Amino acid sequence: MDNSLLTITDRRTGKNYTLPVDHGTIRATELRQIKEDAEDFGLMSYDPAFVNTASCQSGITYIDGDRGILRYRGYPIEELAEKCRFLEVSYLLLNGELPDEKQLENWIEEVKHHTMLHETSKKFLEGFRYDAHPMGMFVSTVAALSTVYPDAKNVLDPANRRHQIVRLIGKVPTIAAYTYRHSRGFPYVYPDNDLNYAANLMNMLWKMVEPKYVANPVLARALSVLFILHADHEQNCSTNAMRSVASSQADPYLSVAAAAAALSGPLHGGANEQVLLMLDFIGKKENVPGYIEQVKAGKMKLMGFGHRVYKNYDPRARIIKWTADQVFQVTGRSPKLDIALELERIALEDDYFIKRKLYPNVDFYSGIIYQAMGFKPDMFTVLFAIPRTVGWLAHWDEMMRDPEQKIARPRQVYTGQPLRHLPEAKPTLNVAVLV
Ligand code: ACO
Repeated sequence: MDNSLLTITDRRTGKNYTLPVDHGTIRATELRQIKEDAEDFGLMSYDPAFVNTASCQSGITYIDGDRGILRYRGYPIEELAEKCRFLEVSYLLLNGELPDEKQLENWIEEVKHHTMLHETSKKFLEGFRYDAHPMGMFVSTVAALSTVYPDAKNVLDPANRRHQIVRLIGKVPTIAAYTYRHSRGFPYVYPDNDLNYAANLMNMLWKMVEPKYVANPVLARALSVLFILHADHEQNCSTNAMRSVASSQADPYLSVAAAAAALSGPLHGGANEQVLLMLDFIGKKENVPGYIEQVKAGKMKLMGFGHRVYKNYDPRARIIKWTADQVFQVTGRSPKLDIALELERIALEDDYFIKRKLYPNVDFYSGIIYQAMGFKPDMFTVLFAIPRTVGWLAHWDEMMRDPEQKIARPRQVYTGQPLRHLPEAKPTLNVAVLV
């Protein structure tokens, strides 16, 4: 018996079909041979929200959601978070292998070379109201870079793609910091290339009049770890947006802006901000059981809980809890942590959450750490977008090299009106009327 074949019997026609199975999947286009008659378009699969559809083959990130496993290019996330620098992990995601010492040094230098923004970018930002959400400013400013770098349109050239990738990785922290400075009315701070990636971001956010900003090394390392954890997560909503938009050969600035827009939603990267709002709403530990009851009654959501892929503890949430301990030793313990721990304790013992396999995800604890470090909740999703830019770009480059990929264009099941006609009495418009 050949285990790599699937036999389908079409009871409508009595015909049998044999389809190859590869990596646990059948090719959806194979279904098209299954027809009721010669006129028939052929069978399609219907999968709203891509719950059971692989849209690509990818060698970047591996997730086993049932066992709570996450690996970048084969390396467990726990090992990378403990032993690597963020730009080292970025190199790994983009190139498939960890850099040696010399390669890492060159890579860091290359990224640093691109941290400045064109001066006109500040003017885009100045057009935003003082209370504009930083994520809206981030998305728009990344998109606006498309006008600054028209050479980026040459997306079929691998060397050009690499150039834009380095530019984007260098510039997203600067854009992020400028959105914050704009919303506070502070002057923009230029990048300081003496500092590492995370410390430089902290410098651009928080430097005031001191001649040299010195980031707390524990907090800078914690930020780096958070960046590593957020760098990629295979075909999530925003990466799917990146691939979908870039499949039309739109330039990478516009595609990354589209991906960041997808990230901003409260069901995706926007959840970290929502968790903080939820913890504020709950207010104190004693109110947790009442909140859980409201969630179970369908009146609220437990933000930062649940995941499409993880049906077990999100491994990133475990590392974030450990990182929180390091951060709180510097900043003092956040009282919100007690509310979060109580929510987690009750939820993990409750049938509603157990049955639905709802566990804390990456966003449940990250906001508490960010807030303790001094970030405002409206910056949390921007902080997610900085490292995820690396993942989006790794997927973009992989997609552009994949000979099987084409413009993304799903099918639909049409459920609208059948053919109908306008009333004959309706007069034909002449040109004069149109004018
Ligand atoms: N609180 C309460 N109930 C939940 C939650 C939650 N956070 N998440 C899922 N459920 C329930 C649903 O109501 C549903 O119950 P039902 O079967 O009785 O209808 C069941 O669990 C399955 O949930 P779905 O919505 O079908 O799961 P899906 O895979 O479509 O959604 C999602 C995943 C969007 C992450 C969801 O769990 C959610 O909204 N979580 C809160 C927002 C959040 O934290 N998002 C961040 C995700 S991580 C990231 O993107 C970086």
